[in-house]
Amino acid sequence: MKPSTTTLLLLATPAAAASCAKTFLQTATAYYLTSQKAGSPSSLSSLLSTTPNNFLYLENNILIPDWKRSSLLATPLVIDFSRSIHDTTQCATFTELVSATSKHPYVVHTRMLFGPDLSLSLVESVVTDAGDWLFNATGTLNLIRDEKWDPIPSGRRESRSKIQGYADAYFDRFASANVSVPWGAPCLRVEGGVAVRGEMKTDKNKNGTAEECVMVWPVGIHVPYRRYVIDEEFGAVDVFVGFPGLDRTRSDQAVADSHFFRGEAGRIKYLHTASACWTAGCGLNGTVFGRRSLGVPVDNVANKTKA
Ligand SMILES: *[C@@H]1O[C@H](CO)[C@@H](O)[C@H](O)[C@H]1NC(C)=O
Ligand SMILES: *[C@@H]1O[C@H](CO)[C@@H](O)[C@H](O)[C@H]1NC(C)=O
Ligand SMILES: *[C@@H]1O[C@H](CO)[C@@H](O)[C@H](O)[C@H]1NC(C)=O
Ligand SMILES: *[C@@H]1O[C@H](CO)[C@@H](O)[C@H](O)[C@H]1NC(C)=O
Ligand SMILES: *[C@@H]1O[C@H](CO)[C@@H](O)[C@H](O)[C@H]1NC(C)=O
Repeated sequence: MKPSTTTLLLLATPAAAASCAKTFLQTATAYYLTSQKAGSPSSLSSLLSTTPNNFLYLENNILIPDWKRSSLLATPLVIDFSRSIHDTTQCATFTELVSATSKHPYVVHTRMLFGPDLSLSLVESVVTDAGDWLFNATGTLNLIRDEKWDPIPSGRRESRSKIQGYADAYFDRFASANVSVPWGAPCLRVEGGVAVRGEMKTDKNKNGTAEECVMVWPVGIHVPYRRYVIDEEFGAVDVFVGFPGLDRTRSDQAVADSHFFRGEAGRIKYLHTASACWTAGCGLNGTVFGRRSLGVPVDNVANKTKA
């Protein structure tokens, strides 16, 4: 189902909450994880307003009105790893969770928004499993669990716009090769469950001494519908986007996608992606943008179909 532009624009509107404390948001992400682990929405439901009809629940851009019974939240998951960030300016949260040892493995990226009365107004998730873009929950777990996401010391924290700029540079680069993306060490992005490495190259403009991380990817794609969650304490930004044409079998449609970044001192340090395809491997047969094989066995994803 193609989401309507109107729906996505509505979802992009942040709440203007004056008194949204970090501790409140931390409680909310803890409730979310409790609910997902139990397969019971009751913890999360306690964050809803008593006023009806002011809450939306979506998975992969599809509205699930009966979410208490028919969403992923109704299925208990082993949570092998999770990380949440908390955006007090927008009164929003983002959580990545990896369920590698559940019988049915998942990697889920979830964004939550709260209204001015601090009631939960939106939960939207990119839910990925076998057949989604380079999906491998064990791979994701192995790649991300030892990353260092320490709080950035208060004197070295970057502004919201600077942190958002890491993500915008990355997505704007899909539209124009003229955009330079400030990659840093370790010069690696985690796409689904696979490590995609860049190359450290000597930058001649910097006197032949400095090394720069160079990543290769295509141009000509305008990535719209960007919804940000930003946490200055961790230099972190997650962006939900619609990724046009990522699924080659539906080239006119935008794939539900989330990209989670950490920047440090002007450079992108980490990036994790989750993209939900309609068909196995987004119809690309285990290659990234049809060019470089990443050695992902196609058999593993052969029977994916999502309607
Ligand atoms: C998934 O990742 C794990 C850990 O890196 C690896 O051992 C396994 O072979 C991968 N599975 C597939 C299907 O690529
Ligand atoms: C990129 O920059 C060059 C030179 O600065 C310019 O001629 C060209 O039009 C730019 N391309 C795009 C897509 O912006
Ligand atoms: C360029 O390299 C030389 C020799 O290593 C060094 O003395 C000089 O300070 C460098 N200049 C810049 C701008 O980095
Ligand atoms: C993927 O494989 C199928 C079947 O072999 C082929 O028809 C299709 O063109 C391939 N797609 C891409 C993007 O390579
Ligand atoms: C895919 O489905 C077909 C038919 O249902 C089955 O024969 C095949 O073994 C499946 N492949 C995988 C990798 O599960």
